[in-house]
Amino acid sequence: MSLPNNGAPAGPGAAASRMAWAKVNLTLHCTGQRADGYHLLDSLVVRAGVGDALHVAAASDLTLAVSGPRAEGVPTDARNLILRAAEMLDAGAGQGAALHLEKHLPAAAGIGGGSADAAAALDLLAAHWGVPLPADTARLGADVPVCLTRGPQRMQGVGEILTPLSPLPPCHMVLVNPGVDVPTPAVFSALTDKNQPPMPEVIPTFTGFTEFIDFLGEQRNDLAAPAIAREPIIGACLEALSDAALARMSGSGATCFGLYATASQAENAAHRISSAAPQWWVAAAPILAA
Ligand code: C5P
Repeated sequence: MSLPNNGAPAGPGAAASRMAWAKVNLTLHCTGQRADGYHLLDSLVVRAGVGDALHVAAASDLTLAVSGPRAEGVPTDARNLILRAAEMLDAGAGQGAALHLEKHLPAAAGIGGGSADAAAALDLLAAHWGVPLPADTARLGADVPVCLTRGPQRMQGVGEILTPLSPLPPCHMVLVNPGVDVPTPAVFSALTDKNQPPMPEVIPTFTGFTEFIDFLGEQRNDLAAPAIAREPIIGACLEALSDAALARMSGSGATCFGLYATASQAENAAHRISSAAPQWWVAAAPILAA
C-alpha cells in the first residue's frame, strides 16, 4: 500500500493521495424506519487502519483507474461512487482529474469500501479543484458522512447525524471476510423487528480496554441475525474470532471483527485465521484514534 500524504499542504492542482480507511460499526442498533424505507440507526463507528488508497493527478479529462489486490469487478464508470462524488463536486464545470484507486478492501462487505472511497474522493478533489465540500454528502450513500470523519463517532438518523466521541482506549482489530457479497437492502428488509432499543443516551468516556469491551458487550448489531440467516458462513467467521475480547459483524456483513488489547494478539489471531482459511480476507489493524 502506498503511503498517503493526508494533510500535506498540496495546493490546488497538485498530485496528492488520501487513504480510504475501512469503516467498522462496533455496534449497530436499528431503532426505526422512515417513510421512505431507510432505517434509523444508532451506531458506534470507528475507522480501522487498513484501507484503499486514492491518488489524484492533474489531467484535462476525468478518469478513474483501479489496481490492487481487490480490483477485480470494481467498476470504473459512473457506477463507481468515486466518479459520482467527482460529479457532485464538479457540478457540471467540466474539470478534469486522473484518479487512481488502489483497492485493498473487499466490496459489499459492511466496512464501507465504496463509501470510504467516495469520501476520500470528495476530500481529495475538493482540495485539488479548490472547491468546497457539498453539505448533502449522504446523497451519495448513508455511510459517506461518517467516512468523511476519522475518530470514533456516534452515527444516528440514517447515517447523517454524527457526534464525535471521546478518544477510545488503544484497541486492535482483526477483520475477517469470508468472500460472500451481502446486499445491504436484502439484510435490512429481512430484519423483522425494526424498532429495537438505542444505545444508552450518554456514551461514557472509557478509561481502559476492559471497560470499553464491557460496554460493547451490552450492545448489538441488529443486522447480524438476518445476515447470518442468509449467509451462515458469517457465523463461521465469528467462531474463528472466538479468542477475541469481543467478536461481532460490521454493518450489514459479511465482514466480522474481533477486538484485542494488543497489536501482537491481533496479528497472531490474523495469522492463525488466514492459515486455517486462506481463501478468506483477513487483516489486523489498530482502531484509528483520530
Ligand atoms: O445509502 P446506501 O446506498 O449505502 O444504502 C444502501 C441500501 O441500504 C439502501 O438502499 C437501503 O435499502 C439500505 N439502508 C437502509 N437504511 C440505512 C442505510 C441503508 O435501509 N440507514
